[in-house]
Amino acid sequence: MYEWVKALHIIAVISWMAGMLYLPRLFVYHCEAEVGSKQSETFKVMERRLLKLIINPAMMVTWLAGAYLAWSGQWFSSPWLHAKLVLAIVLSGVHGFFSRWVKDFAADRNQYSQRFYRVINEVPTILMIGIVILVVVKPF
Ligand code: HEM
Repeated sequence: MYEWVKALHIIAVISWMAGMLYLPRLFVYHCEAEVGSKQSETFKVMERRLLKLIINPAMMVTWLAGAYLAWSGQWFSSPWLHAKLVLAIVLSGVHGFFSRWVKDFAADRNQYSQRFYRVINEVPTILMIGIVILVVVKPF
């Protein structure tokens, strides 16, 4: 059972990360589209669907499967898991900001520059590198 749940966890992680890396790219392009243009309306649909159909469910499955693995494998006393949880909580917080920005774009109320989204785009990547090293290498 443990190995099957781990496979599910990794599938969910890949889907979550794919969305978390692509959504800020859409924000970058959306900044260039004029408010009210056809292009801008298309980006709104793409962003909403990516968030609702991929990113949100993938995050829930990642957390549920991860919690099962931590409980079943009795990892809760391992320091690497504590560090991983901190980074996973930060990643979930970034996810929360992404949801808010999807709503802001949908209401034509984006407040940030293209450069801002380019920088933000790197945050999920950096968190992912840290999380994968922690869980695979288990340095402490
Ligand atoms: C959201 C909360 C999360 C929890 C509670 C959690 C917990 C766990 C646990 C307990 C394992 C099993 C470790 C083992 O059997 O050695 C695991 C495996 C794994 N997790 Fe997570 N995880 C979470 C999120 C993530 C995220 C966000 C990523 C990547 C960005 C990730 C990537 C992985 C990978 C690649 C494995 C397989 C490691 C291996 O088999 O060597 N996890 N996770």
